[in-house]
Amino acid sequence: MTDHSSSASSIPPTGGDDKPPRRIRHWRFAAVFGVIGLSLTAVGLYNLIYPAGAPGPIGVLMESLTGANPHPVHLVRPRARPLSALAQLGQQIFFDPSLSQSGQQSCASCHSPEHAYGPPNGLATQLGGAHMTEVGLRAAPSLTYLYRQPAFSIGPDAPGGDAPPAFAQVATQAQGSPRPAKVAGAPPAVTALIPQGGLFWDGRSNTLQDQATGPLMNPLEMANTSEAAVAAKLAKAKYANLFKPLFGPYILQRPGLLVAEAMSALARYQVEDPSFHALDSKYDAWLEGKARFTPAELRGYRLFNDKTKANCGGCHLSQPTADGLPPLFTDTQYEALGLPRNPEIAANKDHNFFDMGLCGPVRTDLTKQTQYCGMFLTPTLRNAATRTVFFHNGVYHSLSQVLAFYNQRDTAPGRIYPRNSLGGIVRYNDLPVKYQSNIDTTDAPFDRRPGGPPAMGDRDMAAIIAFLKTLDDQPQPQPKGEAARGRGGARGFLDALPVVKPSLSFANG
Ligand code: HEC
Ligand code: HEC
Repeated sequence: MTDHSSSASSIPPTGGDDKPPRRIRHWRFAAVFGVIGLSLTAVGLYNLIYPAGAPGPIGVLMESLTGANPHPVHLVRPRARPLSALAQLGQQIFFDPSLSQSGQQSCASCHSPEHAYGPPNGLATQLGGAHMTEVGLRAAPSLTYLYRQPAFSIGPDAPGGDAPPAFAQVATQAQGSPRPAKVAGAPPAVTALIPQGGLFWDGRSNTLQDQATGPLMNPLEMANTSEAAVAAKLAKAKYANLFKPLFGPYILQRPGLLVAEAMSALARYQVEDPSFHALDSKYDAWLEGKARFTPAELRGYRLFNDKTKANCGGCHLSQPTADGLPPLFTDTQYEALGLPRNPEIAANKDHNFFDMGLCGPVRTDLTKQTQYCGMFLTPTLRNAATRTVFFHNGVYHSLSQVLAFYNQRDTAPGRIYPRNSLGGIVRYNDLPVKYQSNIDTTDAPFDRRPGGPPAMGDRDMAAIIAFLKTLDDQPQPQPKGEAARGRGGARGFLDALPVVKPSLSFANG
């Protein structure tokens, strides 16, 4: 281009004119622009076929045109290897209904492997107990993606060392600290105020091993009355011959130790078996540049992470960590969302009963920390689209209802909450009025006013649901042999059960 004039002058002059003839000038312009045009087209085509690595705005454009991730990453997955002997034992225990008082229920009855280890049905709470007639208080969560769940803690320093952390003390010190905003795309907030981590909706258990005695002894679940009763059932189990080789010749004489070893086997199974953290969803493939979003999925992905509107990613983290760990769609923190009360839960027939999560009554160490009343753990959204029961109290049964809740809680509360006898809307009716200031009214989409514009339109919500479906794992290979035979124990039985006897006992589980 720079030598245009010199090259022009190298062309022998024709007539007295030192410019090349018009025809040639046109031809040269055409050639130059043609080359530029062709190269742009080539770059465009290349990016269309291999959108990875396209820079900034071109990346966004290419993402829009192709649905591919312009900045693919390598996800660091847990190493896959054959199950250890302990984990194989844990698998048999997981599927063994003979360990329940009713003889009908195994862990898999409420945490069904065909349903991402969540409930196999839409019941708000599962049936259990000695005669399979008791109802629990809360929806059964999925057991997938707990592999990076941190221990329960309050404040920036996770508790370490030997001394058990005094959460109530830390919480008292933290009282009055400002509540940090939760914004999609920003790093998760860590301040003195925020409780995080732990297992169960209220974080009252820390390890899969501790946790497992809960359901075995919970009168509403597998309903054993003592550790000795669990040990006696284990000693008669089909796999009892495995105990001595694994745990030593005297294990059957030591019931406490036997139960502890069995629980660590259950934990090993959940940690080792890849079906609990398959990380093979379409979204994982998209992150790695191996799949493309449909236009609806891409739209949903962007809305999910739009910090001024849906802002789902503010709490359900959607981006890989700096060291390449796959996103688990939870910040593992606690929030009071002010869900409507669920009349399906038997305990709720008592108007004075409230399940308030962190501050009890199931959890008992933080009952005086009323700033936490109504707070529950943010769950993973991986595999959420396979569920038919949502939130700790199972009040919703479809993702459309869930999205409508997020969208209308503040803008159209009359569609979310019931009315009293005078026709007034009873907002936040699952939390006593004196604790309602704990409810999140600042983070989008909860930052709106009645009658104001909702954060999402119908098309937006449909797109977010399309995106949520990309978080489902591929159907997992099911266990074979012994374990499979004990699987799902009480499913048909559960479906057939008629009347439900309310119960107000709150043991762990
Ligand atoms: C009757 C149904 C039922 C049975 C049987 C049952 N669970 Fe659960 N499980 C639940 C419910 C409900 C919760 C949530 C309880 C809560 O938050 O208070 C839960 C929570 C859990 C959690 C915590 C998950 C999380 O996201 O924090 C784990 C782990 C777990 N169960 C494992 C097991 C194991 C292992 C067994 C068998 C020994 C078992 N469960 C048997 C219903 C059941
Ligand atoms: C301020 C934090 C926050 C934001 C923002 C948020 N969530 Fe949640 N989400 C939670 C918490 C906490 C729970 C559990 C609450 C409970 O059960 O009491 C939850 C539960 C859910 C569940 C139920 C999962 C299950 O296993 O039962 C779904 C689905 C869900 N959220 C989707 C979304 C979507 C979609 C958006 C965006 C429109 C969103 N969330 C925005 C914190 C948040």
